[in-house]
Amino acid sequence: MKLRFKKIITAANDQSRVRGYTHRFYTYPAGFSPVFVEAAIKSLTKTNDLVLDPFMGGGTTLIEALRADRKVVGIDLNPIATFVTKVKSTKISKKNYDNIEKWADKMSKDINFKIKDNKFVKKAFTIINYKGLGKKEISNLKKIIKGSAFYLKSLNNIKNKKENDFLRLLLLRCLHSTLHDKRPIADFHVFKSKIRSNSLDMLEGMRSLDPYLKNFRNKIKIYNKSSSLSHKIKELKSKKVNLILTSPPYPGINIPYSRWQIHGRRNTTLPYLILDLERPKIQSIYNFQNPTNIKFDIYFNTMKNIFSSLRKISSKKTKILQLVAFNNKDGVFKRYLKTMEECGFKELKIKSHGYVWRKVPNRSWQARLKGNIPASNEVLLLHKIK
Ligand SMILES: C[S@@+](CC[C@H](N)C(=O)[O-])C[C@H]1O[C@@H](n2cnc3c(N)ncnc32)[C@H](O)[C@@H]1O
Repeated sequence: MKLRFKKIITAANDQSRVRGYTHRFYTYPAGFSPVFVEAAIKSLTKTNDLVLDPFMGGGTTLIEALRADRKVVGIDLNPIATFVTKVKSTKISKKNYDNIEKWADKMSKDINFKIKDNKFVKKAFTIINYKGLGKKEISNLKKIIKGSAFYLKSLNNIKNKKENDFLRLLLLRCLHSTLHDKRPIADFHVFKSKIRSNSLDMLEGMRSLDPYLKNFRNKIKIYNKSSSLSHKIKELKSKKVNLILTSPPYPGINIPYSRWQIHGRRNTTLPYLILDLERPKIQSIYNFQNPTNIKFDIYFNTMKNIFSSLRKISSKKTKILQLVAFNNKDGVFKRYLKTMEECGFKELKIKSHGYVWRKVPNRSWQARLKGNIPASNEVLLLHKIK
């Protein structure tokens, strides 16, 4: 093992649950381990260096870069990712804390499902497939959706944007942990009880991140666009990026970046409705291509566009560290390495022999895949420009 990568390799194998600071505000699919990200940033950059995550997801890289006093740029095509990351990394005032705590406490007592069917309720029921569910489950689902309508209606009265966004993310988190990948659909009171407990957990997380958010507006930039446009971004044009730390969409592995599985398998774009964001027109857009298409041409063409753009903003100093999952080591893996080379990058060995593979910890997308294909593994790749 090469000594200077020792800490990164040890951290890459960390299997503990994601925790601390604002990391648990929302469980973004296929999120990084903060332990790994912290080790990578601290080993490969210095204070004030610039870090980029072109597939930012839930923003783990951004939070850890701020904590290490680095500058950071995050890009993601999915507006859920940019919304979540912004809330996780925006400093709030003492007054904001108090207002959020008070509002959430009151909501956790007042929330009910007696509201008349409004636009939100009707829309929610057109995007959730509830056919075949039992009577009790449909009734539970309806109550939770109506409760959410009540919550969102009251939220309209919160004019302060930071408070409004924070509380909207609180609703998203409560719904996600009640509905996504859960069976059977829980009773209304389970959802209701999460409002208070999750709000306290989130405020606590925000408080612990607060010391690292001094002057945060000059240190962090978040973009909702494709990273094939990285070379057009102001902060990146001058080739000052020291570290690109990322985990791109994985070839042939279907991770639902834009959907929740209600009752285990009923795909829905409900999170976009909650956040009032536009739903993606093409379902597989955030995976580069439909993962069931075994030709992978679209995947690798998209990857080529993006990494060619990243090559334009890289200098001799730039290191590119990626964690990528593959479900078979040959074939697609080789093509991935070849594409990196075609985009102008050369590989640096992290250990003297072979690669650093890590087992993907107990993630829901991984569990769903079991049985169909061999278990997925993630590999650590380090590149520089040729
Ligand atoms: C594996 S996830 C990253 C997870 C992240 N490391 C975390 O800790 O949450 C990959 C991300 O790439 C994003 N993505 C897919 N295509 C993209 C593109 N063309 N440009 C930018 N982001 C893209 C997806 O929306 C998804 O959020």
